[in-house]
Parts: sequence; structure tokens; C-alpha cells
Amino acid sequence: DCEDLLFSYKGILYPTTVCSPEVFKALECFEARREDVILAGYPKSGTNWAGQILTDLVTTAAENTEDETNSLNDEELEEFPYLEIGDTEKYQRMEKLSSRRVILTHLFPHNLPESIFKNKAKILVLVRNPKDVATSFYHFTNDMSPLPSYATWDDFFTAFMTGKMPWGSYFDYICEWSKHVDEENVMTITYEELKENRALGVKKIAEFFGLLLTEEELQAVTDRSGFQAMKENAQKTHGAFGNILFRKGSVSDWKNLFTEDQNQEMDKTFEECLAKTKLGAKIKY
Ligand code: PPS
Repeated sequence: DCEDLLFSYKGILYPTTVCSPEVFKALECFEARREDVILAGYPKSGTNWAGQILTDLVTTAAENTEDETNSLNDEELEEFPYLEIGDTEKYQRMEKLSSRRVILTHLFPHNLPESIFKNKAKILVLVRNPKDVATSFYHFTNDMSPLPSYATWDDFFTAFMTGKMPWGSYFDYICEWSKHVDEENVMTITYEELKENRALGVKKIAEFFGLLLTEEELQAVTDRSGFQAMKENAQKTHGAFGNILFRKGSVSDWKNLFTEDQNQEMDKTFEECLAKTKLGAKIKY
């Protein structure tokens, strides 16, 4: 039973094979810094994509200011990508970093350490339409042995709609994060708008975090973050995991999986969800 592989942390389900209550406990004491760069996204929303853009922007901007302390080396980048994944000593090691840290997370806001909001670290909230998220997640759980797998797409769909699955309900996640979207240190971007005009997305992200880059440098960051470019580089950046992660990178792949009934059910649930949020018109699919 898939649910045996999950534990509940402050009401949200997480996979025991990837996360642990001890690490979550240790995380509560994590001290965020005002200059940290935080990226929050539900799994499969394109976090590795936006994460690469952020890291590239931060590294390039740091080179411009010749401020070595502002940029992580490759080993550090590899160790620290997801805030909630690691061992209980991870946060002490992060404490020692003198740099501006790029921090990725799939956690609900109430599962994050309070210091992130208190210390006014800037947060980019990444949102992808639920149909493509579910499609991407379904393929991912079945290809990734540490995650619970589902016998059929229909089983997965039911879990996704009820939220009884790793990282909890997509719809609750959107609702909870949408309460923060008006805060001045929070910016939202959608997978779909990034897909439609990556150059513009890269520019907006750089501006929001106050990262100074020339037009040429912004273009280079844009070029390096194309799906093909990232997929070709995946072995180096993500090892074997890269083959699974960079699957299609498109909008509307859900049309290959959803039945008409499932399509209608999700439209209804998502519309009800959006009606409760401030994200409304932002999410198109
Ligand atoms: S994870 O495992 O939760 O961290 O996955 P995450 O990185 O959030 O999302 C994975 C999906 O993002 C797609 N992706 C991209 N799309 C467009 N352009 C680029 N450069 C890019 N890089 C990754 C990736 O292919 C996954 O989506 P699907 O639909 O499965 O292809």
C-alpha cells in the first residue's frame, strides 16, 4: 500500500524514503538570510529548471561584483539543492556557507522554518497547471524506485485528487502559497509563461532578486536553460536521475493520459481551488 511509505508532518504527507521527521525537526532551527534566494514549487512544477536559472543568475551576478563569497562551488551546489532533503547535520553545514544561498523546496509554507518569512528572504513561487503536474508526477513515481509507484494511471489520479500522496495535495499547496503572493518579498511565475517566453521570465526573475547582469549575460542564462540544453547536460548536473527528470518538458502532455471524465473532474476541482486564491488568471492551460 502506497500510504505505508508516507509519514505526516504538520498534516502533510511526505515519502519516508526521501524525507524524514528527524531532518524536518532539525530544519525548524534553520536560519534563513535576507539575501537567500528561495524557490518554492510543488513537485514536477519545473523546480530544477527554475533552480538552474536562479543558480546561473546568482553565479553570474557574483562574478560581476567579483564577490567570491556570493557564489557556491560545484560541490556545494550538489549538496544543498532541496532544503528538506539530506541529513540532520546539513543545516549546520549550510550555516557555514558565507554565500547567498539558492534554496529549492517542495514544502508547504507552514512546513518551512519561520526564519524564511521573518527574515524576509525573497521567495519565487513557481506554479504549473495541475494536469501536466499530475502527468509528470505519474511517470516520475513509476520510474523512481524510492517513491511509491501506482499500478495504474487511474490509481494515481485518485491519489492526486484526494491529496493522499507524497508532498500532499497539489490543490492545498496552491491555496496555502497563494496566501503569500501579495507579500513584497514574494513573486510568482508559472511554468507556462516561462515556456512561452523564457527570456522575459529570466529577466523578471533577475530583477526581482536584484541581480545585475548585462543583456548578453541574461541571453546566455536563457540559452543555457532551454530544455534540450539542460537535457544534454543532465548527466553532468543530475547523474542517472537526469534521464528520468528531463522527460518531455512540454505543455499539454496531459492530453495523452486523461480521460474526458478525469479532465472534467480536474477542471472542476481546480476552478474551485482557484476561486479561493489570488492566483486566478495567472494559471492558464
Ligand atoms: S522534481 O522531481 O519535483 O524536482 O521535478 P521538477 O524539476 O519540479 O519538474 C520536472 C519537470 O520539469 C521539466 N523541465 C523542463 N521543462 C521545460 N524546460 C526545461 N528546461 C525543463 N527542465 C525540466 C521536466 O521535463 C519535468 O516535466 P515533464 O512534463 O515530466 O517533462
